Amino acid sequence: MDTRISEIADGIYRLSTFVAGIAPPVGFTFNSFLVLGDEPLLFHTGLRKMFGSNRDTLSRLVAPERLRWIGFGHYEADECGAMNEWLAVAPDAQVAHGQTGVMVSLNDMADRAPRVLKDGEVIDLGGKRVRYIDTPHTPHGWDAGVMMEETTGTLLCGDLFTLLCGDLFTQLGDGPALITGDIVSPAAAAEDLFGYSALNPTMGTTLRRLSELSPGRLALMHGPSFEGDGGAALQALADEYDRRAGLHRAGVIERPEFA
Ligand SMILES: [Fe+2]
Ligand SMILES: [Fe+2]
Repeated sequence: MDTRISEIADGIYRLSTFVAGIAPPVGFTFNSFLVLGDEPLLFHTGLRKMFGSNRDTLSRLVAPERLRWIGFGHYEADECGAMNEWLAVAPDAQVAHGQTGVMVSLNDMADRAPRVLKDGEVIDLGGKRVRYIDTPHTPHGWDAGVMMEETTGTLLCGDLFTLLCGDLFTQLGDGPALITGDIVSPAAAAEDLFGYSALNPTMGTTLRRLSELSPGRLALMHGPSFEGDGGAALQALADEYDRRAGLHRAGVIERPEFA
């Protein structure tokens, strides 16, 4: 297993593992983001089975035992499967998540007590600042949330936009770490394939609220990171999901079936 490092913003590093066997032939990436500061934060722990590769890769940037915060979008294996492995190697590390995630899953599943973050609460990392924002059911999970790193304008947006590798590139396999241009169309194509979003009546409102943060970068868990007008991309995604919700209500489109 090979994990690649790219600095996508000043002091924010993408640790990316390409898996050819998911959504073949184009493949899929699993990304974690290290935000360096006096109190380093890792956003997404990665799968438990990717822990060794992620730990060895992260250790080229910072000693794993120096990690202070562990954040992620929602309770799922790729977002937080290796949570306890990281807690074991980093004695001062603490999981930080919203009230719902802590109450529903993390109080029980995390080996050390998590920190509860209110909607809009900031953690000062020393040189970086992350603001936690609740996004319930968007894209999926009652406990869903994102983090905005405010000094670089980077939205750690998890699965909000999920991109395959080959949608964007003529060649198969892993693509560049950072892209510009349209990411809504490829996200819609991935939605057609996976049906990963929990379409709900508040989804458009949630995404438009995030667009007001006007991020200059979107750090995607699956796919390349995006640089450009993140607010416009989030508005376009809101419109796309409003359109889909309308079509679902009308019975025009149905959930995809996995083969
Ligand atoms: Fe997810
Ligand atoms: Fe994910």
